[in-house]
Amino acid sequence: MSLGFSFNMFSIQSPKSQILSRTCLSSQFINQTQVKSAPYTLSDYHVNSSQPFKLGTSSKRFNPITASTAVEATTSSFRNKNPKDINILVLGSTGYIGKFVVKELVSRGFNVIAIAREKSGIRGRNDKEETLNQLQGASVCFSDVTNLESLEKSLENLGTSIDVVVSCLASRSGGVKDSWKIDYEASRNSLVAGRNCGASHFVLLSAICVQKPLLEFQRAKLKFEAEMMKVAEEDSGFTYSIVRPTAFFKSLGGQVELVKEGKPYVMFGDGKLCACKPISEQDLASFIADCVLSEDKINQILPIGGPGKALTPLEQGEILFRLLGKEPKFLKVPIGIMDFAIGVLDFLVKIFPSLEDAAEFGKIGRYYAAESMLILDPETGEYSAEKTPSYGKDTLEEFFERVLREGMAGQELGEQTIF
Ligand SMILES: NC(=O)c1ccc[n+]([C@@H]2O[C@H](COP(=O)([O-])OP(=O)(O)OC[C@H]3O[C@@H](n4cnc5c(N)ncnc54)[C@H](OP(=O)(O)O)[C@@H]3O)[C@@H](O)[C@H]2O)c1
Repeated sequence: MSLGFSFNMFSIQSPKSQILSRTCLSSQFINQTQVKSAPYTLSDYHVNSSQPFKLGTSSKRFNPITASTAVEATTSSFRNKNPKDINILVLGSTGYIGKFVVKELVSRGFNVIAIAREKSGIRGRNDKEETLNQLQGASVCFSDVTNLESLEKSLENLGTSIDVVVSCLASRSGGVKDSWKIDYEASRNSLVAGRNCGASHFVLLSAICVQKPLLEFQRAKLKFEAEMMKVAEEDSGFTYSIVRPTAFFKSLGGQVELVKEGKPYVMFGDGKLCACKPISEQDLASFIADCVLSEDKINQILPIGGPGKALTPLEQGEILFRLLGKEPKFLKVPIGIMDFAIGVLDFLVKIFPSLEDAAEFGKIGRYYAAESMLILDPETGEYSAEKTPSYGKDTLEEFFERVLREGMAGQELGEQTIF
């Protein structure tokens, strides 16, 4: 899910062998990994969001070959292996960050297995061929992360163990049901299926905003984080790294082209209600890849921002006008307008439950208009730019320059546009 703010179109996107050969990307391989039916039942894993799941019994259903591979993988740390012998399963591989994560892991020499949908990308616009093109260097397995049985069967068909799972899964809409289905249930499926194939480390792309959970997707993410931490607590052979980044560039670029056309830069309140340390896809992908082997990132929650100081919307607008050589022109919108709209939607949803997602998108917009994407200092209860770690080298200013030159291609937001 992504969040974009731009006036007139205030848009919210909401928010192989053991080593599988990389040459397996033939249509034959793809067909082999498509799952049509399941030979066994997994009813004990069927999702019930209100009950924590148990991983302990899952290995019982393994066939002996896969099971022994899994045992090997957990008893000898993957960290001692050569990257080319480390099998990394990437979920959410076709997303804005996932694509860069796959590329980064491949460039570091890991053996990457990317799970994808047959129709991937925003509104499913990429077919298999396009997806294979995007994920070059990885072995692509077309499967369904929302169905544990299918996912497990797909992994079983690969006939390989997994060392590490990296999940960049996220609801593309940020809607209530979709958030629980992806940010919680599909993430949970990835953990179960990955562990069943021997994975002993899980790197999760989460979000810094879960510190102050007021939205459904944040609650869904937190529930999964908590369950995964519990697994690590109970099994010393399993570790995790939870990456909680600040704002992505795509979420801040929505007004660049409008301002270039002469429109004002729109912000809420005085433009200083919130701040963030924006991070690029490449820098975040690099940080996520670091989490695979870095022992100091084991069993850690890792908030992370990009380089430089924290920027308010006002400062972001000023950068943009400076780059354009134009006199700043701001439109300041009272935050109360959003509160009014949310109040109306909350009232309507009681009468028309089908408006549930519209009400949620309103809350998402309100949240990002006023809450900083920085560490929330528990001592002061305030957001702290100083306490928010920085990583990488790409700056928002460079990003704005690129968008002014080349447009927003590749930086599209998600699937919802409201207001
Ligand atoms: N936007 C920000 O500023 C920001 C800031 C901090 C943290 N974050 C967090 O970063 C995470 C990832 O963001 P992103 O922008 O990379 O996400 P994204 O571009 O929306 O990608 C989502 C990924 O999840 C997959 N997915 C979604 N629904 C699915 C379904 N029903 N079945 C199978 N796969 C599904 C997508 O597959 P398809 O390609 O097949 O749809 C895609 O690979 C999110 O958790 C977000 O909260 C975002």
